[in-house]
Amino acid sequence: MPNEVIHAGDQAVPRHIAIVMDGNGRWAQKRGLPRTAGHKVGCEVLRTLIKYCKKIGVEYVTVYAFSTENWKRSADEVSTIMGLLKRYFKEAIDSLEDEGIRLRVLGDLRRLSPELQALAHKTDEISDHICGTQVNICVNYGGRDEIVHAASAFAAKCAAGEAKPEDLTEQLFHSYLYSAGIPDPDLVIRPSGEQRISNFLLWQSAYAEYYFTDTLWPDFTPAVLDEAIAAYHGRNRRFGGV
Ligand code: FPP
Repeated sequence: MPNEVIHAGDQAVPRHIAIVMDGNGRWAQKRGLPRTAGHKVGCEVLRTLIKYCKKIGVEYVTVYAFSTENWKRSADEVSTIMGLLKRYFKEAIDSLEDEGIRLRVLGDLRRLSPELQALAHKTDEISDHICGTQVNICVNYGGRDEIVHAASAFAAKCAAGEAKPEDLTEQLFHSYLYSAGIPDPDLVIRPSGEQRISNFLLWQSAYAEYYFTDTLWPDFTPAVLDEAIAAYHGRNRRFGGV
């Protein structure tokens, strides 16, 4: 069932919101807990936020769950995040249809365990039949890696005589990205006080509005999202025009 679109005043909510779920480690450390405790709470916060995004009519939500650089973390932390993803995908397989949520996993999945890869493919398959808010989970994702992967795939097509370099356009290039078919984010949110992109959606956020907040991801609530959306409504998006 299509989302019921709720308008804030006379302004529609952003169609696509992307979030760097940052601050889990600091949230846990402040409480004398292991960093992994922050990721566990962060995962619950994501569930709440997705429900809220669907309620207010956001069509696409993209979150950064694990970057191409996050493999540098301790084996315990990596395995906790992979475990959370596994549980999340397993639950999604049973609930996506009822909740009207589409789930896509963006990134180079080849480095994930065969079980996680199979779960990601399964959620993808189920999502094909669902009409509703689309949640994109970026796993082993890096913006540069995505661009290199797309360039290499297009070059391979050219080498095979199936594409011509002179036919390449921005639109065609986008079709080679992990985010093929997904509109660019309108609003990118980074919690936890950091003000950098960290290799997230480099191509796609060319004209996104950024919102930074000191709130750590495990403390993020629908009210913080409302603040981000209100700030977005105050922006004057010109896309390079006047
Ligand atoms: C960044 O915070 C967060 C991550 C690298 C992991 C995010 C993962 C989850 C919220 C859970 C798994 C996701 C799903 C969808 C099941 P940080 O650890 O860098 O925090 P810090 O900057 O305070 O150290």
